[in-house]
Amino acid sequence: MSADRRPRVLSGAQPTADSYHLGNYFGAFKQWVGLQDEFEAFYFIPDLHAITVEYEPARLRERTYIAAAQLLAAGVDPERSALFVQSHVPEHAQLAWVLGGITGFGEASRMTQFKDKSARTGSDSSSVGLFTYPVLMAADILIYQADRVPVGEDQRQHVELTRNLAQRFNHRFGDTFTVPQAHIVKATAKIYDLQDPTSKMSGSNQSHAGVVDLTDTPKQVAKKLRSAVTDSGAEIRFDPSTKPGVSNLLSIYSALTDEPIESVVRDFEGKQYGHLKVALGDLLADFVGQFGDRTRELLADRAELDRILAGGADRAREVAGATLDLVYERSGFVRGR
Ligand code: TYM
Repeated sequence: MSADRRPRVLSGAQPTADSYHLGNYFGAFKQWVGLQDEFEAFYFIPDLHAITVEYEPARLRERTYIAAAQLLAAGVDPERSALFVQSHVPEHAQLAWVLGGITGFGEASRMTQFKDKSARTGSDSSSVGLFTYPVLMAADILIYQADRVPVGEDQRQHVELTRNLAQRFNHRFGDTFTVPQAHIVKATAKIYDLQDPTSKMSGSNQSHAGVVDLTDTPKQVAKKLRSAVTDSGAEIRFDPSTKPGVSNLLSIYSALTDEPIESVVRDFEGKQYGHLKVALGDLLADFVGQFGDRTRELLADRAELDRILAGGADRAREVAGATLDLVYERSGFVRGR
């Protein structure tokens, strides 16, 4: 399906918190930004996904704007990439329904994110939407005939399901979808919580002390870094299995400075954990300081954000509409009007 066009990249990040965090930035956004020259890029804010858990409408609306401003601050360039809100492109939900018809109940039941999230709230209070969430995610990807999907490690299984659904549909109804590939950068595929370096950094972690939000103040960041959990021993070495805390700090340091891990380790040879924490704290404080300034500027002009998002949705709908037409045709729906 992709012979006569530039390869496409697509990704999304949920607006389920008041800010994205460092894991989102290094695991995903940095890749999104880097791919927008080589690929035709579609980046979006999955507000439909965000309503599969309990939420407040007014907060969702505000968080969607914050998300848009943060993605722009991260370097998503609306001149080169379509940046849009999922609910502005109804074809996502329309395709999700079609894909639901070829998704096995058992197959969906094996999704570990659903199992984790529903275990947290109890299956009686988990919604059907949370269960079918990966099918909507497959639709997000396939509706753009995306070739690559830059995500963190936790989304690998969902991209794998997407590939299976694309292949199944193609096999049953004729070649329709590009089969996408996950684009996962190993070094930053999983950024860990600073207080619990064996769990991923996540907005839903019980304590926020180990999560660096992109809206934190430089002071808050420096403090979170100073109290980051490190490991036994004293040597600064990259070894995630025996030194998860220090290794996580080294990964973040390397991602932030674009310096290979080995050379960061060399720089800190003979120094103590405290030196690494302070040095990284300073760098990150600068980083979030600038990031926050830029985000606030963007958020101050809602009309401009609306304009950017509307432009992105127009571009997205051109592509999404063409795929949905083809899918409806292949599905046997009467196409008289
Ligand atoms: P979400 O919103 O949880 O996270 C957005 C992106 O950030 C990555 N990420 C991390 N990477 C490294 N370390 C971490 N600690 C970390 N935490 C989060 C995620 O892997 C993701 O790439 N289902 C998706 C949103 C989505 C989507 C899509 C993504 C909806 N439709 C279509 C790609 C394509 C999610 O919940 O990501």
